Parts: sequence; structure tokens; C-alpha cells
Amino acid sequence: MSLNHFLADQLQSKEQLLALINLAINIKTNPENYSNALAGKSIALIFEKPSLRTHISFDIGINKLGGHSLYLGQQNGQLGERERVKDVAKNLACWCDAIVARVFKQTVLDEMAEHAGIPVINALSDLYHPCQALADFVSLTETFGSLEGLNLAYIGDANNVSNSLMLMGSILGVNVTVITPQGFGPDGNMVVKAQALAEESGATLTITNDVEAIEGQQAIYTDTWVSMGDSKKVEQILADFAPYQVDDALMKKAGAQAVMHCQPAHLGEEITEQVFDSGASIVYAQAENRMWAQNAVLVTLFG
Ligand code: NVA
Repeated sequence: MSLNHFLADQLQSKEQLLALINLAINIKTNPENYSNALAGKSIALIFEKPSLRTHISFDIGINKLGGHSLYLGQQNGQLGERERVKDVAKNLACWCDAIVARVFKQTVLDEMAEHAGIPVINALSDLYHPCQALADFVSLTETFGSLEGLNLAYIGDANNVSNSLMLMGSILGVNVTVITPQGFGPDGNMVVKAQALAEESGATLTITNDVEAIEGQQAIYTDTWVSMGDSKKVEQILADFAPYQVDDALMKKAGAQAVMHCQPAHLGEEITEQVFDSGASIVYAQAENRMWAQNAVLVTLFG
């Protein structure tokens, strides 16, 4: 299998995604077999926004593959301000073998990929978080054995994480339900894309404001109500979002075995501390699998 970049969920086929998931599990099981996979490779990690899991899992993951990573924070301001995005990409390509970037705008990543001539990996944008989704489907595979026909509900604010889950899930044959307060649902174009992918895989995609749709779900997923770069204020949306909080009652209603969160979690807002720390929580498996999933992407890009 070959990949040129890892920019957005819908750019990979079902076969490619399944191969990445299997490879992630293989690298996790036999890390010593991959300890030279990135020997001699240098990878730039650009972060326009804060990060704990993404930064550290890429840095340490690249190290485990025998490669070298270089962290570039916000000291140069937003990409495209000091010099053209195209020039940042072309300069980095003089020294680096790949670029990992967390950006405000997906268009910046697409522009880098167009001009860099080296692989570009999306480490979160306004639209997608494909590394997170890949790690999440690795975690769901470990928990449930198979993804085909699995019922996964995302509840809360529609954002980059829910977009990636519904797109990647629809490709993989997962029945995805996205439950949001009115006015906070996914973008129409994104839903059209995911719907077409679900039809192709035979999965269902449900977009609703009805909390009752949580019934019969096997895994529940939530994320912050206010994403990085989002202008809404949590105090203003608390009343709208309160019925969508993942608490014990919601978990009971769902009958779900697993609860998921990409973190950072805002305990007492989108999820209660009790549920976050409960036996159903697989949040730390998700965090660990970020590294193995990303390493599968890197090994494949350089394969
Ligand atoms: N939706 C969140 C994800 C953080 C990992 C954000 O964009 O801030």
C-alpha cells in the first residue's frame, strides 16, 4: 500500500485504513521490528496550537522508529504571516523528509502538501483530526474485535474530531450517530461526503439533535464543547449543551460498553469525572494508540 500524505480521513480507501489499523497493532505488538524504519529521516513537527498528546506521541513515536523529529512551536507566528506557506513548505523540504502540522486552517495543510514534495501529515486542523480517528478505530478494534456494524455515537459539539469520526467510520462500515444541540451540528458538505461513504460501505450515518438516539450504542464518544480557535464562550452555551453531557444516566440509557474522549477533557462539562474515570473509559488506550497509529502512517509513507 502506498500513501503520499495523510491529510484528511476521506482520502484513504477502506483497504488502506484497515491496513493502517493492522499495521498499528503489529507495530504495537512487535516494536523492535520497526526500530530502524525511519533511520536517517528527519521530520518537522509544526504546531500553531497547543498540544500534549500529539506533540509527545509524534516525537517519541518517531524516536522509536529510529528517526529524528524537530519541534517548531508558535515562535514564528501563524503559518503564512511571516512568509508564504509555499515557501515554508519548500524550505522545510530542503532539510526534512516529512512535515507534521497542527494548523488553524486545513487550506494551509493542503497548500503545504501541494508544494512541499515531501509527505505532509495532518496533526489537527479546523476540519479534521485524522490521526486521532485512526487511533480511535485502532482502540475500537482492540475493544470490540471488529469494526463492521459497530454502533458508535458521538455526542456534543460537531467539530474536527466528529468530522473525522463520521468520515473514517463511514468508510470502515461503522454505524456512526452524531448527536448535537440544535445549531451545533456538522457542516452540510461534510455530512454529504460521509453519507456517500456510508452508502458505499453499507453503514448507517445518523445526524440528530435527539439525545434518545444514544440508545443501543456500543461506544460513546465526546469532545470539548469549545475547540481551539472556536469563538463561542462556554458560559453562553452551557444551557444548550447540558442535556448532552456524558454522565452515568446517559451511559445507562446507551447501554454502551465503552466511553471515549480525545482529550483534553473538561470534566463536569462534556463528561463527568465519574464516567471519565470509570471502567468503561478507554481514553488512555486512545492516547497510547495515537503513537502506534501515527507510526503506522509514518512507516507506510516511507514504505
Ligand atoms: N476539538 C478539539 C480537539 C482537541 C484535541 C480542538 O480542536 O480543540
